[in-house]
Amino acid sequence: MKKIVLTGDRPTGPLHLGHYVGSLKNRLLLQEDHDQFVMIADVQALTDNAENPEKVRASVTEVVLDYLAVGIDPTKSTIFIQSMIPEIAELTVFFLNLVTVARLHHNPTVKDEIKQKGYGESIPAGFFMYPVSQAADITILKASIVPVGQDQLPMIEQTHEIVRKFNRLYGDVLVEPAALVPTALTGRLPGLDGKAKMGKSLGNAIFLSDEADVVTKKVMSMYTDENHLRVEDPGQIDGNAVFMYLDEFGRDQAAVADMKAHYQRGGLGDVKVKRYLNDELQALLSPIRERRKQYAADLGHVMRIIQEGTARARERAQQTMAQVRRAMKIDYF
Ligand code: TRP
Repeated sequence: MKKIVLTGDRPTGPLHLGHYVGSLKNRLLLQEDHDQFVMIADVQALTDNAENPEKVRASVTEVVLDYLAVGIDPTKSTIFIQSMIPEIAELTVFFLNLVTVARLHHNPTVKDEIKQKGYGESIPAGFFMYPVSQAADITILKASIVPVGQDQLPMIEQTHEIVRKFNRLYGDVLVEPAALVPTALTGRLPGLDGKAKMGKSLGNAIFLSDEADVVTKKVMSMYTDENHLRVEDPGQIDGNAVFMYLDEFGRDQAAVADMKAHYQRGGLGDVKVKRYLNDELQALLSPIRERRKQYAADLGHVMRIIQEGTARARERAQQTMAQVRRAMKIDYF
């Protein structure tokens, strides 16, 4: 039996290279020897986008196109939509009885996000309790592996607590998932501006759907070494976004090592390095862009893929929910 993996994204915009490095690439590997479910977390996206349903709806399509474009294969991975599995909402309600408000207040990721979004005292309750809903996403499929970024670890920890409490009170029904965290080196791509993280709202991202000329423009604007003013000056590699990208995307790492030495010595200009990086990125992105356009030309086909995936995920969710009801003694008829 293959192990069940659950991954997912909040649909709030198209996916970018940071997503590719941090999770999509890993999903391409995982789908080969795991039973992988890829969830489009639209319920979670709505917890802080209640007034933007059009944005969430449009993003669902964008994200699915990105998945298919990079090679997430619907015959190997099950792509599904969270809101179309009402059993997740049902399980969330029962989980809420196993969690205290104080515990939710202490979730460091949610705390950060509340600060970031400037909610003050006016936190949407749905947003505040999204870790509980995430515990339901994971356990309803009985996923044993959940690949997440570092920032999502508190969600897995809270899922563990809920599973333990549930199983202790009602019997051994739910599975405690293991988090699969990418290593620091391969797991995170800095933004074009050299800031630690690439993000849509940060305005420092290359999207998988960007046209070739847009990619070029973005690469040529990248942060390098602010003290590297003349070509003949020695340049810094540390903190230089262009070289960090080359570590990740350079297909010929011996050539990259030569360029680094040359840059540090002096005599290699930023423009040359950026042109090299641009070629590497175009080689990666152009087949992705082509495939994306092919899928986008037949959205009916794309919808059928999600519909079939959702049906498969829902069947599994219903099985777990039946066990949950029995265990909780609410299986009346
Ligand atoms: N919280 C995740 C994010 O912010 C998305 C998500 C929702 C998720 N439910 C999940 C990820 C379950 C993994 C497993 O992107």
